[in-house]
Amino acid sequence: MIKFLSFFAISVFCSIQISLGEIVNVELGGPLGWRFDPDEDLNTPQIIRRHGYPAESHIVETEDGYLLTVHRIPGSRDGNRGGQPILLQHGLLSSSADWVDEGNASLAFLLADDGYDVWLGNARGNHYSIGHTKLSTDSKEFWDFSWHEMGVYDLPAVIRFISKTTGKGGDILYVGHSMGTTMFFVFSSLKPEIAKLVKFMVALAPVAYMKHVRSPIRYLTPFVNEEQWIAEHLGIKEFLPSSKLLHFFTYECQIIDTGRICDNIVFILCGADKEEYNEDIMPIVLPHIPAGSSTKAVLHYGQEIKNNGNFQEYDYGMEGNLAHYGTETPPFYNLTHIKVPIYLMYAANDYMTGPIDVVRLSKQLKNLVGMYLIPLKSFNHIDFLVGKRAPEAVYKPLTKILGNFSSSFNEDISVKLV
Ligand SMILES: *[C@@H]1O[C@H](CO)[C@@H](O)[C@H](O)[C@H]1NC(C)=O
Ligand SMILES: *[C@@H]1O[C@H](CO)[C@@H](O)[C@H](O)[C@H]1NC(C)=O
Ligand SMILES: *[C@@H]1O[C@H](CO)[C@@H](O)[C@H](O)[C@H]1NC(C)=O
Repeated sequence: MIKFLSFFAISVFCSIQISLGEIVNVELGGPLGWRFDPDEDLNTPQIIRRHGYPAESHIVETEDGYLLTVHRIPGSRDGNRGGQPILLQHGLLSSSADWVDEGNASLAFLLADDGYDVWLGNARGNHYSIGHTKLSTDSKEFWDFSWHEMGVYDLPAVIRFISKTTGKGGDILYVGHSMGTTMFFVFSSLKPEIAKLVKFMVALAPVAYMKHVRSPIRYLTPFVNEEQWIAEHLGIKEFLPSSKLLHFFTYECQIIDTGRICDNIVFILCGADKEEYNEDIMPIVLPHIPAGSSTKAVLHYGQEIKNNGNFQEYDYGMEGNLAHYGTETPPFYNLTHIKVPIYLMYAANDYMTGPIDVVRLSKQLKNLVGMYLIPLKSFNHIDFLVGKRAPEAVYKPLTKILGNFSSSFNEDISVKLV
């Protein structure tokens, strides 16, 4: 509460309006003297092609009418095709660009070099996936989703599509970061039949239980049911934080301020640390985030923090819950129903997911393959993607464990099966 009082005090003095447009536009060769990199201005397939890889875009329709763009690197630079499919799924307010905007060391490129058929998902509501067969993005209905719907509709549609296109259902690998893990836990606990198409899942910075969250997202908890406050500060449709809220969050970020990252809501929520700060890739990363999502997705996390860190469905209040679920409180996601083998990679300094919460999650997973604590003290939530030492600390052990779940298909047989 003290924090919020200071927030209002600050907001009185700071009347400078920051628009999201300004935040995502990093000045070229600006005050920090960043070198221009063409990837700053390119979309995901363009970045992929500029680095010499083949790129495809596919539109996948979900059961409830959302039109998702799925990007794909179907092979390596030297023309090899037909590898084992792997789906990379981004986190909150991000997009497929997460996996390709770290230059040559980007995870998607390393995997393509290793012979995988790399698929990059885009969750409903980010700027690659704002189409719908019936709903307009101006409507409240379009934005009426959280990561629950991404797990129940988006992942089943995308995973079925990959299975149909490649003929390799059952061999699909999945790597999620942050919300990309949350939606997978929803998906695999509620849709175990479709989840059989996935052979193995690696969770980077897994978010399920949220009792030990240090992200400023925790300051939203007193307001998760305050409609007027939400409308004013978060937006009731797309998540568009007010300048007052951004100022407050930025205030929180001063302690770790490095360059422009404290102006960016994704870094503000995820945390950042000086040791992993990679000056070379920031000019490419920052223009690609935030990529858009619903306020409801952010609030759903806020509710979890409020509800003792429990992993449960969206809370509509007592009456709403009775109407939606037939119970006064929202149902818990039952993680013991997950059959997919899962490997958890987590970090001690992670703002969005505390190690205690990850251990609690691991105890629910019947098919836990293993856990890997990143051996770096300062490593934070978003460092899994952009950290200076991510290639060494994350990608190396990650590709090693993926190798243990390589394709069971003999390529000739797989061609016949299609
Ligand atoms: C990226 O790879 C290309 C081709 O191998 C190389 O020419 C370039 O110097 C690399 N860039 C960086 C930043 O490593
Ligand atoms: C989860 O499911 C198992 C088996 O179906 C059941 O025994 C357990 O009580 C459930 N847990 C929760 C939290 O609902
Ligand atoms: C991969 O499998 C081998 C053989 O079963 C095992 O010894 C090794 O520990 C596994 N690798 C990892 C990273 O778990």
